[in-house]
Amino acid sequence: MGCQYFEPSEGGATSYTVAMPKLTFGRGTLREAGVRAASLGLKRVALFTDPFLEVGPLVATVNESLAASGIESVVFSDIRIEPDDDTVTRAAKFLAECKADGIVSVGGGSVIDTAKAALMVDAHGGDIREYFAPPVGKGKPVPGPVAPHIACATTSGTGSECTSISVIRVNDLNTKFVVASPHLLPLQAIVDPQCCDSLPANVVASTGFDLLCHALECYTARAYTQHLEVTDPNARQLIQGANPFSDLSAREALSIVGKYLPRGVADSTDHEARDQLMWGATLAGIAFGNSGTHLPHAMSYGVTHLMNNITSEGYPVESPFVPHGISVVVSAPSIFKYTAEAQPERHLEGAGFLGADNKGATPDDAGEVLSKRLIELMRATDIPNGLSGVGFNTDNVKALAESSFRQQRAIANAPRESNLVDLENMYSGALKYW
Ligand SMILES: [Fe+2]
Repeated sequence: MGCQYFEPSEGGATSYTVAMPKLTFGRGTLREAGVRAASLGLKRVALFTDPFLEVGPLVATVNESLAASGIESVVFSDIRIEPDDDTVTRAAKFLAECKADGIVSVGGGSVIDTAKAALMVDAHGGDIREYFAPPVGKGKPVPGPVAPHIACATTSGTGSECTSISVIRVNDLNTKFVVASPHLLPLQAIVDPQCCDSLPANVVASTGFDLLCHALECYTARAYTQHLEVTDPNARQLIQGANPFSDLSAREALSIVGKYLPRGVADSTDHEARDQLMWGATLAGIAFGNSGTHLPHAMSYGVTHLMNNITSEGYPVESPFVPHGISVVVSAPSIFKYTAEAQPERHLEGAGFLGADNKGATPDDAGEVLSKRLIELMRATDIPNGLSGVGFNTDNVKALAESSFRQQRAIANAPRESNLVDLENMYSGALKYW
């Protein structure tokens, strides 16, 4: 793997930018939050978390650490799973009123993404929708820096602590959209695998497939050289397509998740497996934070928001809900069969990193080999059997495709182009696998 791709395209980028927070990884590092916040000059922080973590030991550890460093903290925990635009408005109002000079976020993707969006609205005003890409928003660029943010991840999946992306649900449109700007990247990330010791098996499985898909989507994404060159270096998004750095991180994440996911799900005392998954999630976050995901994530949003009456064991919500990682992976085996045609070598390599036996396989077999390995891992970790496993049937396919087709930025990052009918066909192929 070299320093650049040697297949330039007319008008395509010839360079790429890499960005990530100052990262601290290791057991017990949550206790460093206070010293790290002090090093950024913070004196009073807003501690963003959710109502369940708020009363648990992780937030207590961070609060003690902040106090020991002489830092005041005020807690904002009004954050639901799958945060929406109203959550961001409330969070930004809280920030404005509490006079904090930065955020320490403690949670999964929902908490960290809310923190990023709230910091943006607090610093630059306006409605979050203005920052979404058209046709939903005005595509307004984030005009400048936001207050310091230290992100502490508590699940082994999101990777959000290492990305400049915030995913927010828009209530009246019944789907999620992305705000992406280098200014949203946390200044520091703390990844303490101890946070995963008490996670239920279902949560490890779901978040594990989130990390798997982050890495696999990055590795198979459209190359940065196939995206348009920008004239203003500051306008270069970190969602810039596959590049040598995201490849590096994604490859390692795939090897880790292929090896350790079944073990980490099966045995909560298997610290080696669970610590490795936390590291894999971080690497996958670094990868997709510097390249972007594509169809499996784009097509997950329709699944999340058109869900039928399903409840998910292990998640503390009473309303119908499909966990993010499951909403992504249920369609993935069908999607990668479709995209393999455009990048067969990368799909075959990806299957190999995940532990597939691809000896003797030809490029024509790539989609089948990768799809088969994904299904093996899904079955080994008790993931629902495709879309039918989360309550959908053939009658829902059209609505799913229409809902997800609005995610044009992610769809454009796929290695193969797709129209509405292609999305319907991919959903149809994802109804049932075994
Ligand atoms: Fe994700």
